[in-house]
Formats: sequence, C-alpha cells, structure tokens
Amino acid sequence: MQVIFDALPLLLVGAKLTFQITVLSVGFGCIIGLFAGLCRLSRSRVLRYLATGYVDFFRGTPLLVQIFMLYFGMPQVVEMLQLYLLNEYGIPKMVDVSNVSRYWIAVLGCSLNSGAYIAEIFRAGVQSIERGQMEAARSLGMTQNQAMRYVILPQAFKRVIPPLGNEFIAMLKDTSLLSVIGVEELTRKGQLIIAVNYQSAAIWFAVAMIYLLMTLTFSRIVDWLERRLKTDDRG
Ligand code: ARG
Repeated sequence: MQVIFDALPLLLVGAKLTFQITVLSVGFGCIIGLFAGLCRLSRSRVLRYLATGYVDFFRGTPLLVQIFMLYFGMPQVVEMLQLYLLNEYGIPKMVDVSNVSRYWIAVLGCSLNSGAYIAEIFRAGVQSIERGQMEAARSLGMTQNQAMRYVILPQAFKRVIPPLGNEFIAMLKDTSLLSVIGVEELTRKGQLIIAVNYQSAAIWFAVAMIYLLMTLTFSRIVDWLERRLKTDDRG
C-alpha cells in the first residue's frame, strides 16, 4: 500500500498528460471527423474517395503501427522539406529535426486515428436523420448547405453524443500505446516507476485504478449530458 502512495504523485503527473493528449486528440478528431464524415456524404466523387481512403487507412491499420510510422517517419519528412526559419538576425537557420516533439507526434497520431472513427460517427448521425427533414427544409427554400447546417446537423449532434463519449473513453485507454515512443503518460510512468522499485503488481494495479477512475468519471458526465439533451425538441 505504501508503495502505491509513494508512486501516486508521479502517476498523477502521467494521468494528467494522458488526459491532455486525449482531450486534444478527440478535439482535433472531431474537427477532422466532421469534415471527413461530410465528405463521405458529398456529391463530389473525388471528396468521397479521399475521405473513404482516409477512414479505411486509419481504421484499418493498428494505432500502434501508426504511432511508429509517424514517430520514425516525421523526422525524415521534415528533413526532406528542409525547413528553414529566419533567426532574429534574419539569417536562415535550419530546424533541428530531433526537436519534432514526440508530444506533438503523439497528438497528431491519435487525432488522425480518432478522426477516422469520428468521421463514421458523424456520417451515421447525419444519415440517421429522417429524410423528410431535408425535404421539408428544402421546400422552405433552403439550399442543400443551409438545410444541412441549420436543420440536419443540430439534430445529428444530439444523436452522436453517446458514440462520441465512447470514442473518448476508447481513446483515453488507447493513449497507453504512446508509451512505446517514450511519451510519459500514465502507462509509461508506471513502467518507469517499476524500473526503480520493482513493484510490478502494485504499480500496475494502481495504474489500472487511475484509468478506471478517469473513464468512470467521464462516462457519468456523458450520461448526464445525454439526459439533459433528451428533452423533446419542441420543448
Ligand atoms: N485498438 C484499435 C487499434 O489499435 C483501435 C485504436 C483506435 N482507438 C480509437 N479510440 N480511435 O487500431
């Protein structure tokens, strides 16, 4: 027990990073996902194909592999682009590729992955709105885009809250994969502590409990949000 208390401050630092990366990734994921989801419903074949390719790739390959790919691939891409910035004297200085921070690679990887799942959530949400809603909006003289923006999306948003909550919880746990590239989130912190005190069983138990506490808190918040939004649209 004492072992766990001693490790707690460090574990909580890790938990904070886990939470941060999750919020950022699902946040960016929502932006990417809304865009990609609408592209998949678009009348333009090019947009549809691009969005489908994106979703297929990031849903069809393991997040672990995507993380490795970005972590080892990004520095090479940056090097290829040879990014030059001007220093304070106006003289070009080359960006140090080793400075491509693993934190941002982590956020990028998780956002792209989450975006693919969220794209499907939004697409399903929009498609679940009865077609009569679009017809009614169009018959009032709205354009396709106006109808989407003012009639379909507001209704769809309400329906996608439960699956978005799921995605958040899934992502919170999946950020543990970032431990492989040395991002010191909760799981990596646990490993590091064990490397010092050899108390594997106690530390992994504590790590599990902290994840559980975070996911439980969050799912209660989603439940509450869902109940609040459930009120009839007509009031
Ligand atoms: N575990 C699955 C994988 O390795 C899904 C990861 C993505 N999770 C998510 N919440 N977007 O690919």
